Amino acid sequence: MANILIKHAEIITMNKQEDIIYGDIRIKGDLIVEIGTSLEVKGDELVIDAKNRTVIPGFIQTHIHLCQTLFRGKGDDLELMDWLRKRIWPLEAAHDEESLYYSAMLGIGELITSGTTTIVDMETVHHTDYAFQAIAKSGIRALSGKVMMDRKNPDAPAALQEETAASLQESVDLLEKWNGYANGRIQYAFSPRFVISCTEPLLREVQSLSARYGVKVHTHASENLGEIELVQAMTGMRNIVYLDHLGLANERLILAHCVWLDEQEKRILRDRGVHVSHCPGSNLKLASGIADTPGMLHDHIHLSLGADGAPCNNNLDMFNEMRLAAVIQKPAHGPTTMDARSVFRMATIGGAKAVGMEDQIGSIEVGKKADLAILNLYNFHTFPSYDVDPISRIVYSATRADVETTIVDGEILMHTGRLKTIDKEV
Ligand code: GUN
Ligand code: FE
Repeated sequence: MANILIKHAEIITMNKQEDIIYGDIRIKGDLIVEIGTSLEVKGDELVIDAKNRTVIPGFIQTHIHLCQTLFRGKGDDLELMDWLRKRIWPLEAAHDEESLYYSAMLGIGELITSGTTTIVDMETVHHTDYAFQAIAKSGIRALSGKVMMDRKNPDAPAALQEETAASLQESVDLLEKWNGYANGRIQYAFSPRFVISCTEPLLREVQSLSARYGVKVHTHASENLGEIELVQAMTGMRNIVYLDHLGLANERLILAHCVWLDEQEKRILRDRGVHVSHCPGSNLKLASGIADTPGMLHDHIHLSLGADGAPCNNNLDMFNEMRLAAVIQKPAHGPTTMDARSVFRMATIGGAKAVGMEDQIGSIEVGKKADLAILNLYNFHTFPSYDVDPISRIVYSATRADVETTIVDGEILMHTGRLKTIDKEV
């Protein structure tokens, strides 16, 4: 952590008023301590001249699989259940400690260089300690956990099939080692894969452990019609009704996808305060469907965004997800539906709410963590839209190449294109 003074910036605060201001940001240690104009340099501060630059809260991606980064391109053009059975499960089963570490590091590098500062990540069954090591070394903020798969399934490789007690014990061991590590930058999240992969005793125990430790549960639900049919056949219930029946539907639950919901399920998501992670790129590429995000926002369901695993849409870039989240709704619902501000909110403060850190990240305000990105929006591909709302400019025309600096917990992880973990040892 350094003491940093960012000068002369356009600042998209995402505070309650969503103010856009021009000025300076003072960072001391891990915190934003002052925002103002003409702030004087103090002591040993590193000064970043952000004239003609835009500072934004770092993006918060609420559904990522770092363990899948190396699988990009393997299984393009398959739908979800075939993609899992034929490609992803055998590949996850084949991970060793080293491949998992590099898969995680490669994914994190991609995330940091595209302005993402916090992730909710799901690993594979084995070697998750190595993903945590990559997270710890990289400096990214993360909630992560080993995936849990204790239901016998002839379609899944033997190496991914666990005993219930062992799955729970390994999860708790990782939690005790990593939860709260590095100034609280790392947290544990229980990660049962989805209902199809998990037994009822495991899911019930996950619910009680998450309450006891006060940590999140991160899983997939209602992504694909075939998945929903299998859940119905196994449990006699619709997916989210079943999760609610087990007590899992609450404010600690982060639920990826939620493409296919009925009215009862929408009511459960709203009434229990569940956080939905919308993954538009993945939902399109795996032919899962188009989630009704305008309807969810209308129903006051908490929404945030995630790129899912790298092979789900072939990149981990939040600019891509924001743009897709906006444009896929427009043909059916009209041009003002899912406007730029709505998706930018999902990418920042919505994600902060999902991870239970609304008072610490997701906006640029005094007292919050210094998690932010500095963008250069004066490039050819944004020209000549200088005088439009900068949030609109970011959502519809910015790219990852416009990110110049990424700061997490007051630490510069990338600056002028140089990535700390690759250019310099931590
Ligand atoms: N459902 C269960 N496992 C997965 C996974 O790895 N990716 C996606 N997109 N959906 C899943
Ligand atoms: Fe996923």
